[in-house]
Amino acid sequence: MDSKIKNILVAYFSHSGNTREIAGQIYECAGGDIFEIVTVDPYPVDYNAVVNVAKQEQKNDYRQGLAIRGSSVNKAQNSVSEWLRKLGGSLC
Ligand SMILES: Cc1cc2nc3c(=O)[nH]c(=O)nc-3n(C[C@H](O)[C@H](O)[C@H](O)COP(=O)(O)O)c2cc1C
Repeated sequence: MDSKIKNILVAYFSHSGNTREIAGQIYECAGGDIFEIVTVDPYPVDYNAVVNVAKQEQKNDYRQGLAIRGSSVNKAQNSVSEWLRKLGGSLC
């Protein structure tokens, strides 16, 4: 890891846990801060149910409210908010 890199944030969204696992491994190697981005209204676990919700969201151009979970949320809140805004979401 390049020692010149000072600010590291691993921010991820994971529905079923695969990305969470990889994000955890990246965090273990890279250090820094780690945040999980979660939807305020959780998606259903069932595949067909979540596909139906996603179809409705796309049809209505709807963006879920988002929140972050992490150890030092306040420290990176502004950068995470800005990043989420670029994606079309917002922090609750
Ligand atoms: C509703 C739904 C739709 C998916 N659609 C695709 C897809 O079109 N192509 C694909 O390669 N994987 C698809 N997947 C598989 C996910 O991309 C894959 O399982 C991913 O690792 C999930 O990451 P996560 O465990 O962090 O949520 C889909 C999964 C779900 C739940």
